[in-house]
Amino acid sequence: MQTLHLFLPCAAGVETFLAQEVQSICGITADDLRVLRAGVMVRGNWRFVLLLNLHSRLAQRVLVEVAYAPYRQEQDLYATASAVAWEQWFTPKQSFKIEITAQHSPLKSLNFAALKIKDAVADRFREQTGVRPDVETRWPDARIYSHLTHEQLTLYIDTSGESLFKRGWRTDKGDAPLKETLAAAMLAASGWSQGDGSANNPNGWCDRGIPVYDPCCGSGTIAIEAAQIACRIAPGVMRRFGFEKLLPFAPREWQDLLTQARAQQCAPRAKVFGSDVAFRMVDFAERNAERAGVSSAIEFRGGDALQRMPPTEHAGVMLVNPPYGERIETAGVAGPSGSRESAQTQDGDFFAQLATHWKKNYAGWTAWMLTPDLKLPSRMRFKESRRVPMWNGPIECRMFRFDLRAGSMRDKPALK
Ligand SMILES: C[S@@+](CC[C@H](N)C(=O)[O-])C[C@H]1O[C@@H](n2cnc3c(N)ncnc32)[C@H](O)[C@@H]1O
Repeated sequence: MQTLHLFLPCAAGVETFLAQEVQSICGITADDLRVLRAGVMVRGNWRFVLLLNLHSRLAQRVLVEVAYAPYRQEQDLYATASAVAWEQWFTPKQSFKIEITAQHSPLKSLNFAALKIKDAVADRFREQTGVRPDVETRWPDARIYSHLTHEQLTLYIDTSGESLFKRGWRTDKGDAPLKETLAAAMLAASGWSQGDGSANNPNGWCDRGIPVYDPCCGSGTIAIEAAQIACRIAPGVMRRFGFEKLLPFAPREWQDLLTQARAQQCAPRAKVFGSDVAFRMVDFAERNAERAGVSSAIEFRGGDALQRMPPTEHAGVMLVNPPYGERIETAGVAGPSGSRESAQTQDGDFFAQLATHWKKNYAGWTAWMLTPDLKLPSRMRFKESRRVPMWNGPIECRMFRFDLRAGSMRDKPALK
């Protein structure tokens, strides 16, 4: 079978978790992959392409590298793209699109660079087959990704189509939904879905039945990802992929992998809970969970995080993507109604009150919070036991871990 070089982009900060995930999906060792910034490079084959699209929760897409060459000017891009055997991947009757990204490229216009690559692909097809394929920018049959660095061009054929964070179950979005890939990254970083390498937690707390709870669940992304993991539902079972239109695609092989994935589904060992102060959000979350096939594996409730008591007597892991900034204000007892203070102060109050509530009622739990606010631990008068850098799109965030033990928190005045 032909060896392929695959590149799986991911959010910055997620690379090591993705590398671990790729190893377990493909049954390979660390020697078969390279961890890069915001992505992982894997040596594999077409079967890996299908498996990774179907099972990866952390990758944004699966790209097959088809060219890697130096360039100085647009003509070099044309020459490199002309030399690729595109006819092995799609036919001239199919449409295509060029996506382009660059880091420190000396070229003046990325649009012009993309145009040169597009011409090279179309001209090659005309020379080989007498027919020029059409360009289609909205729903192309084939997507070609090109990346320019200071002096290198890399060309990839995309096998995912729509980005992999689109699992196919979300129609109710809420106001600021977390991408599914990032919710999965939070679960991996917390050690709930992936082991942390220690003898204490080799496979992830999920396998040990440790409950997980998101008290600001919004449209339910973290809880739904967690429940699918607990039920071993592959993230790609309910969506279509770009590879289905590419020439190497063999429907039988794909159907076999889907059948195997469905056969792995099981009853969850761990319980999953979510709640939100906005009943509209709880409604969204319930409908999303229904479509994701996990409504019986999650208990959603309405209620203020400052008042909700632990959903289960067994201490577990809380994962929170709390409200912040102007887009999503805190609501409930610490929210703006009845207060004329600034949003910043209200947020400060919310987090200080949340810390008090947790300290009193959640002893034994571990809480992980994803936030762009680097002063959050001080606002909560907590000392974090870990901080994991993670990017939410362009926003630099931290995941802070707080080990909640009654009376053990650092007692210092909250930052305002
Ligand atoms: C950033 S959003 C979470 C988005 C969620 N991760 C998703 O993917 O949809 C923050 C959520 O916190 C909720 N919220 C605000 N104040 C709250 C409070 N006092 N108690 C519980 N939830 C609250 C908001 O309604 C909002 O849904």
